Amino acid sequence: MSIVVNPFSRAEQWMSALKALLPDERLHLWPDVGSTSEVEFVLAWSMSADDLAAFSNLEAVFSLGAGVDQWKALAEHPMLADVDVVRLVDPAMADEMAAYALHWVLHFQRSFDQMEELQRQHRFEQPPYTPAEDYPVGILGYGTIGSRIGRAFADIGYPVNAWSRTAPTRTRKEASDEPSRFVGAEELTDFLGASRAVINVLPNTADTAGLLSPELLAAFQPGALFVNIGRGTVVDEYDLAVALRKSRPGQAVLDVTAPEPPLRASPLFDHPKVVLTGHTAGATLISSASRVIAANVTRLRQGERAYPLVDRTRGY
Ligand code: GLV
Repeated sequence: MSIVVNPFSRAEQWMSALKALLPDERLHLWPDVGSTSEVEFVLAWSMSADDLAAFSNLEAVFSLGAGVDQWKALAEHPMLADVDVVRLVDPAMADEMAAYALHWVLHFQRSFDQMEELQRQHRFEQPPYTPAEDYPVGILGYGTIGSRIGRAFADIGYPVNAWSRTAPTRTRKEASDEPSRFVGAEELTDFLGASRAVINVLPNTADTAGLLSPELLAAFQPGALFVNIGRGTVVDEYDLAVALRKSRPGQAVLDVTAPEPPLRASPLFDHPKVVLTGHTAGATLISSASRVIAANVTRLRQGERAYPLVDRTRGY
């Protein structure tokens, strides 16, 4: 049985990393697939359901990115109903995303944006800023990546608010790094109102698309910072542009957009209160991601389940 590898980029690097970690596997680099009936696993950023349906013994698809919205079509294809989709949960990617979030929160909370302006005016001064302890950071989506980001902020003194769809299964109530918890749609308004910065980490699912409606945007604190490193679908870009005019939120840093990339006429490009960073917050790092994937392939070979699998009813 064999594995087809179809990376978005850096194909040779992926192949050499995987060959070193899985020396006993037969690996094919797409579009070479060998015998279609022997393909058991596919490793790809994305692939059409029709291409996958050609593999009659396909068992699992491994996503080469953390997000899995690009795999939605699989659920609807009659030939692929039993194929598992395995998400990529890579601690190194979560570290990168935490560093990105720290960068932008610090930039605005510590007034580095104003310092750039002062320098242009040949002034060497200290603009005022709110100390970390008075600058609660809200993480919208408190899964593996969200909680890594929360810890990064808690470690350097920021109060952390965590919003999740459902209550966490286990909380360490007494732990000093445990965030203030907000759960479900009913607590979203309070969560937004309690946070000076809101970092969205939510994936694109039927539940999250358009979640930040105009009513909820109005619940942001005046002047709040909104950082989106989840998926752009969480907010309509025109609603966001209007909300920024009302200063709720007061500033947006968008690594993801919907559509992505934004259309040339998008209100985001020229908006004075928007920073766009071109989907760079958390790259898939071949060295660490290949180890995570190889460990999952080994688990499957030993008759165990890969982890974590996409829940088809939730789309994540
Ligand atoms: C990036 O957005 C990813 O899904 O890994």
